[in-house]
Amino acid sequence: MADPTDKMENIINLCKRRGFVFPSSDIYGGFNGFFDYGPLGVELKNNIKQAWWQDFVHRRDDIVGLDSSIIHHPTTWKASGHIDNFTDPLVDCKESKMRYRADQLFFAPVRVGGETIGYVSVLEDETMQAKADELANELKRKLAKQGALEPLTLKDYTEAKPEEHALIPSPATGKPGSLTPPRSFNMMFQTYVGAMQDASATAYLRPETAQGIFINFKNVVDTGRVKLPFGIAQVGKAFRNEINPRNFIFRSREFEQMEIEYFIAPSADWQTAHQGWIEGCLAWFESIGIPRAKLSLYPHPTEKLAHYSKGTTDIMFEFPFGVQELQGVAARGDFDLTQHSDVSGTKLDWFDEAAKARFIPHVIEPSVGVDRVFLALLTTAYHEDEVEGEKRVVLRLPARVAPFKAAVFPLLKNKPALVERAEALYRRLKKRHNVFYDESGNIGRRYRRQDEIGTPFGITIDFDTIEKDAGVTVRNRDTLEQVRMTEDEVVRFLDDQVNG
Ligand code: GAP
Repeated sequence: MADPTDKMENIINLCKRRGFVFPSSDIYGGFNGFFDYGPLGVELKNNIKQAWWQDFVHRRDDIVGLDSSIIHHPTTWKASGHIDNFTDPLVDCKESKMRYRADQLFFAPVRVGGETIGYVSVLEDETMQAKADELANELKRKLAKQGALEPLTLKDYTEAKPEEHALIPSPATGKPGSLTPPRSFNMMFQTYVGAMQDASATAYLRPETAQGIFINFKNVVDTGRVKLPFGIAQVGKAFRNEINPRNFIFRSREFEQMEIEYFIAPSADWQTAHQGWIEGCLAWFESIGIPRAKLSLYPHPTEKLAHYSKGTTDIMFEFPFGVQELQGVAARGDFDLTQHSDVSGTKLDWFDEAAKARFIPHVIEPSVGVDRVFLALLTTAYHEDEVEGEKRVVLRLPARVAPFKAAVFPLLKNKPALVERAEALYRRLKKRHNVFYDESGNIGRRYRRQDEIGTPFGITIDFDTIEKDAGVTVRNRDTLEQVRMTEDEVVRFLDDQVNG
């Protein structure tokens, strides 16, 4: 299964077939950029969020949690800069009515023997250079031009000169003349609050959870449990009217974020704190089953930093569709607290007892999308192999995040003694973990069904269990090894595997 497109297709099919992720509003033909998580998907997603919360909030002394409202006072977004700056450059094709993000639409002049004979355009992906070369060759053939084609230098559409807009072909029609100049498009979803539907009632669905943290800074400090440096963590939905949602749940219009605002003194060395968070996040990804070899770092060039950032490094993951951002770790300085202090008139600062001085703390922000972690885990875990001469799809998800931690099987369903014992063990395990009970079909098929959804252990009650009191067999999904254990040992074993 070498082709990455096939791998994505297989994962998307598995997600739908087994109840991980459905297209939203499926019965109405879906709704672009929105997804619904099914019975298994919601378990995996909750396990990711729970692992993150345990590791970054419960197991630390310096981070507390928050759950703010999704809709804030609209002035929040003026102060944060989102109303003015949270935009993507948009380009329309007037003929096909297609819309593109200008920074994802690439073009190049086609030059033969020093003469420009036209332009080509392609949408950003791993193969865009090869596609552009092919289009350039086609153009040269069509115009019957002699001479060597000069190498193409692709640039994104935001870099096109005004006189080039009319010459660049639309990717939809292949013809020039229909693309508009790029214009700024604000990605925040608007709504109205209350009975009026006018500008005075406009509010926004949050495009990040971070601002909910900043506007609660004083509330959290005043409850008195925190000492600088400290962090506030929040997990919740965010909404962005993405021009071009794509790659399944990678870029959607409604998604979930896990964000921490970690406040430090202005005199602290922010570069060291920033680096510490990058390393901490890499280690966390590894701990939940995302291999270090698939992760890399992309420090943003200074000229491309977001309006609030002093420095941002993205943690990139090797998805089947290319190396893409999994997490951003930004040093936001004192931008947000200063803005909200100035605009609201409420001082969002910190009193340093030792120095008897007030200051606005600076902040480091690790921010990651739950849906992207979900996809990174699935693409890492997805394998096809062969067991006993039969093709098998297996999700090698670590026990901590797997939807079911184990499945319990009586060897045969028509033997009441086996069924009774299996049901009793199932009930006992279910008090501690999410486990599954299955008595239908031959045991091989039951294993296979669990392998496909990532259940790490299959526990079988057979005749030796009931006749010789020989314990149960525990089959390991990945090694296929089967070990006998007493039922008490199974309980402890599963606790250890899930809780680490
Ligand atoms: N508070 C900072 C912030 O929101 P961001 O880089 O825009 O920064 C942080 O978003 C993370 O949220 C990204 O690294 C990604 O994991 C996730 N994310 C952003 N946009 C997304 C989208 N449209 N769909 C899914 N996840 C998204």
